[in-house]
Amino acid sequence: MRTLIRKNPKPSVLVTGGAGYIGSHAVLALKDSGWPVAVLDNLSAGFRSAVADDVPFYNGNVGDKDLLLRIFEEQMIGAIMHFAGSVVVPHSVANPLAYYHNNTVNAHILIETAARAGIPHFIFSSTAAVYGSPLVDRVSEETPCAPINPYGWSKLMTEQMLKDVSFAGEMNHCALRYFNVAGADPDGRAGQSTVGATHLIKVAIEAALGKRDSVAIFGTDYDTSDGSGVRDYIHVTDLAVAHVLALEALIEQPEQSLTMNCGYGRGFSVLEVLDAVDRVTNNKLVRIADDRRAGDPATLIADPTKIRETLNWRPQFDNLETIVRHALRWERKLCENC
Ligand code: UD1
Repeated sequence: MRTLIRKNPKPSVLVTGGAGYIGSHAVLALKDSGWPVAVLDNLSAGFRSAVADDVPFYNGNVGDKDLLLRIFEEQMIGAIMHFAGSVVVPHSVANPLAYYHNNTVNAHILIETAARAGIPHFIFSSTAAVYGSPLVDRVSEETPCAPINPYGWSKLMTEQMLKDVSFAGEMNHCALRYFNVAGADPDGRAGQSTVGATHLIKVAIEAALGKRDSVAIFGTDYDTSDGSGVRDYIHVTDLAVAHVLALEALIEQPEQSLTMNCGYGRGFSVLEVLDAVDRVTNNKLVRIADDRRAGDPATLIADPTKIRETLNWRPQFDNLETIVRHALRWERKLCENC
């Protein structure tokens, strides 16, 4: 299998979690760049409708070895982008073992099966949560990892597995550490459809459209400019494009593995985000001050120097109002389908 894969200039990419929010945007970015794609998703959080009909779709689990081997063969898979996983920080605090199972144990099965089958490239959806509550203003990849919640640990463990497997020469990999992903495809082809979303921008837009009564501000006494939590919000399409560039870099330099932050390098507080939603929707959200949420750091902002230099990544949508506008357009589309 290995020889076959290496001879093909554009091998098929298996996108796990390709029916989910970020995965579906990655599928679009891959297709837009001419990459053949197949999707594996168990539809626990994703939607079948998020995957175009011309993309081979497998409904199943990342931990199902036999299914993985069948997909690798049938689709001539030459690279994996692994998005399938659990992503809600407070849930990880309440249900740590579920997070270790889904994000670490299942990732182990996927990595092991891929390595045995000779799949040479692996791109992993990691997170800024691996840094915990860093003491620096902007976090670089050299900042020590010290997760403060099981979600961050579950992802960091998978990063470590990938490092060791790559060191052993079985594949090369790229771990992309996402900061706060938001927005939707600028052409309206995809967006975040998550039911019961907990992420700030999605929650605020649902409230703006009357799907919720109010928005809670989790923590108003942080050591930040206005007391609310500060995050680096990155547009999902810029993130998806980063994955395609990472794939190309892995293929070009098979001896090299990479770990890179994905953020814009500037932070917005919860209140600033809510202000942006108010401006874009021409509305006034009902805001309710609430306690801090378990597992939340005060501030988390990327130093994106490495990804810019290594991949020549040039974000197109580095603007909070654009992110909110695209997310709003998608949410309105979801309302039409309600
Ligand atoms: C977390 C991870 C991030 C990961 C993402 C994946 C951390 C530090 N970050 O993002 O790396 O990519 O999950 O899902 O673990 N907030 C409110 N009210 C709300 C919702 C959120 O005030 O209704 C606040 C939060 O307290 C936080 C900010 O908004 O300060 C962003 O929260 P959220 O959108 O949930 O993302 P993170 O937890 O930061």
